[in-house]
Amino acid sequence: MDERPPYRLPRMAVPRRYQLEIVPDADNGVFHGSCAIAVDVLSPIQDMILNAVQLQLTDITLTYDNGQILSGTVSYHPEEEQVTLHWPRTIDPGRYTVSMQFDGRLSTDLRGFYRTMVNGKDGKPIVILSTQCEATDARRIFPCWDEPDFKAAFSIALVVDPEDVALSNAREIHSEMMSDGKRRVVFAETIPMSTYLVALVVGPFELTLPDMVGLVPIRIAARPGFAELTAVARAAATGTLQFFQDYFGIPYPADKIDHVAIPDFEAGAMENLGCVTYREEALLVDKERSAPMEQMQVVSTIAHETAHMWFGDLVTMRWWNGIWLNEAFATFMQELATDALHPEWDVWTTFGHGRANALEVDGLASTRPIEYPVGPPLDAWGMFDVLTYQKGGSVLRMLEQYLTPEVFRHGIRQYLELHRYGNTETSDLWDALESASGEPVRTMMDGWVFQPGYPLVLVEWDRDQQLIRLRQHQFRYQGEADNRYWQVPVVVTIWRYGDVRESYRTILGLEEKSIPVPSDMASVLVNQGAWGFYRVAYEATLWQPLLERLGEMTPLERLSLADDAWAAILANEAPLSHIVPLWRAMVNERDPDVWGAVSRQAALLDDIVEDHERPLLQNLIRTIAGPVLQKLTWEPSPDEDVRHRRLRAILIQLLGTHGGDPTVRMHARELLSAHWQGTSVPPELLTPIVNVVASFGGETEWARMYQQFRAAETPQEEKRYLYALADFIEPDLVTRTLELYQSSAVRTQDGAIALGRALANRHAHRAVWNVVEDHWDELLEKYPKMIEFIVSPVATVVDEDLAHRMVAWLHAHPVPQSARHIAQTIEFQEIHRALAKRIQGQLGTLLEIGAPPQN
Ligand code: BES
Ligand code: ZN
Repeated sequence: MDERPPYRLPRMAVPRRYQLEIVPDADNGVFHGSCAIAVDVLSPIQDMILNAVQLQLTDITLTYDNGQILSGTVSYHPEEEQVTLHWPRTIDPGRYTVSMQFDGRLSTDLRGFYRTMVNGKDGKPIVILSTQCEATDARRIFPCWDEPDFKAAFSIALVVDPEDVALSNAREIHSEMMSDGKRRVVFAETIPMSTYLVALVVGPFELTLPDMVGLVPIRIAARPGFAELTAVARAAATGTLQFFQDYFGIPYPADKIDHVAIPDFEAGAMENLGCVTYREEALLVDKERSAPMEQMQVVSTIAHETAHMWFGDLVTMRWWNGIWLNEAFATFMQELATDALHPEWDVWTTFGHGRANALEVDGLASTRPIEYPVGPPLDAWGMFDVLTYQKGGSVLRMLEQYLTPEVFRHGIRQYLELHRYGNTETSDLWDALESASGEPVRTMMDGWVFQPGYPLVLVEWDRDQQLIRLRQHQFRYQGEADNRYWQVPVVVTIWRYGDVRESYRTILGLEEKSIPVPSDMASVLVNQGAWGFYRVAYEATLWQPLLERLGEMTPLERLSLADDAWAAILANEAPLSHIVPLWRAMVNERDPDVWGAVSRQAALLDDIVEDHERPLLQNLIRTIAGPVLQKLTWEPSPDEDVRHRRLRAILIQLLGTHGGDPTVRMHARELLSAHWQGTSVPPELLTPIVNVVASFGGETEWARMYQQFRAAETPQEEKRYLYALADFIEPDLVTRTLELYQSSAVRTQDGAIALGRALANRHAHRAVWNVVEDHWDELLEKYPKMIEFIVSPVATVVDEDLAHRMVAWLHAHPVPQSARHIAQTIEFQEIHRALAKRIQGQLGTLLEIGAPPQN
């Protein structure tokens, strides 16, 4: 009985090894291929079903062990993305070789085997061919069993122009000139791996000399003219490989690793075994002339993909429902490795934003569990979201902290050891961690992984009984929450008078928990360390004493406190005035990430307040951020630490945009002019001053920024100007920006992000949305998987007419691969509109509360 869904392959025949030769013809936009696949037939069959999309198959044969050959025929099933090979007689169980020729087209939509063209520094076009197979696009390159648990070895050959570099998953073992003037490059055989990890890259790349970690050579590949931007990547690639070999206690699973910058690339990066591909700004950066955040992005992306070499490539999820095993782990590991290489960056505090994003989406009715049944390929796409990455990464961090890092690592090693070259389910991970820790990991973790949402922990102080009472219910911004509960690991900090500090640990379940507290308790913080994936609500009398302890908390604890307080406002559990004392306390705050969290709150308010009330908000922003910038000054002191440099950047942007601070604006404009005239400006200030100037600049500034975009020498510089053009507010300039964003001057990878940024500009909402509606079909075709970037800012539109029009459009034009994201966007919009209504006409009163007494 065959109950497989139509998009899944039968398992009567399974591939063991693919021998693959691909001959791209970039000029004509096509490729030719041939393959010989070693196949194990497990029960008698007449047909073989495998995946192929838009490939023409010819010369299909099946070879027996004894050399006997059968010819086959093919039928195509485009709906299922499958082909059936028909054999003239029944094939008995045994080993065979299935061979064929095939022809396909090089695509231009950044998936499968695709072609991209950019202008080189000399103005001449550079053509690069690359692949993107995850999740299910290997089938557009060669006929295959394109499901993650059909692992097989790959022996790949590429036939290319002699001047091009050809790269794939394994080392080059042979290269020969052909009679037609082409070069045939043969690569070594890989370990058994999933088809979604296959990589083919061809182009005029420059490669760094190999850096060795043990016997593994590491290279960075970039197009001509970009070789000097590889220093940060080289250090991170070697450092993280070393880190993970030590952490996992298992040698790196391939024979080399190349990190390749592709000029047009949909995702941030892709963990093809031994041949990791990146968008340029995620790999190439000028070490001396870049902001800390820009370098952090590079290091942390490399760390993420390098972690996948074990988690994902060596051990792989069985099916796409388990994608969190890959992505949550890589997200967690990227922080761990980056933290080890760069403790001065304090990346776990920065990850507080990632966690905050996850808590935000996961507080919606339209959220989903981390692990979720996945049917057809389209469903798999929707899994690459904040819940998989940031919620998944956060709950792993929670587990690691709960079990202790040593025990956690021990369990991870066991898991990888046991399942190497194999495929796993989530329960396999729990088994390993249970055996390493002796703790009931499954009981605790299943709730976090298989239930949507998360708890709000309510804290009450019973002074008579000298108790703190904790209980939980599901957090929701709006509507009724379900009756769920979690096993919540809670660590409480108790401050006693006289600055004595105590900790208390417990697991909070369905039942309320009472914690005895000393009679001289002054203050209590729940979620010590802020690694728990939940929010906390304190009874009113606990709030003020807590604010007095801000200086004794870690930055991450403060970030978390600010985020929970803000969530209570959005959820209408507290008035806007609730946040004001915390905002006012920011005059003493020096952490860039805590300031980042408050900046985001300010930005949202800026989006939703009425124009005539905006000055009140600007005033408050200037009152809290102005003095901090004044103390810090615009001039970095020599050897100033990286966090202070980031802080200055954040304050300038906050004051110059949402704060509307005239002095900061003037100063930003002067500094930017000086930069344009060749004066050196601290690199971390470039993006903020460019953004500030764009927010009030005119035609001259627009033209200059456009020119800077066209002439940019680094990917970071190019993006900085390209995106800042979205922030101009004059209607003519908005129109010009929109024309640019729809032109071929903007790469496919950036177009949707740029349009989204333009839509986020409150002065451009209508103009941009008109374009979106007018070009909807084109946009969907051009950015099939990036439409979410365009739609996201709909969440912050609170003007009733426009908001309704947008929602009506989205309902009438469903996008299946982004359905959940769009539902979440619409739900956020409802929440923001409700807040806008509550504060309408009240802003003065609400923001005044908590103001220091006037003298
Ligand atoms: N495997 C993903 C890339 C990917 C995502 C492929 C979605 C297909 C569909 C890769 O490991 C990844 O997660 N990349 C991140 C960057 C990372 C630093 C978080 C990305 O692309 O955003
Ligand atoms: Zn990943």
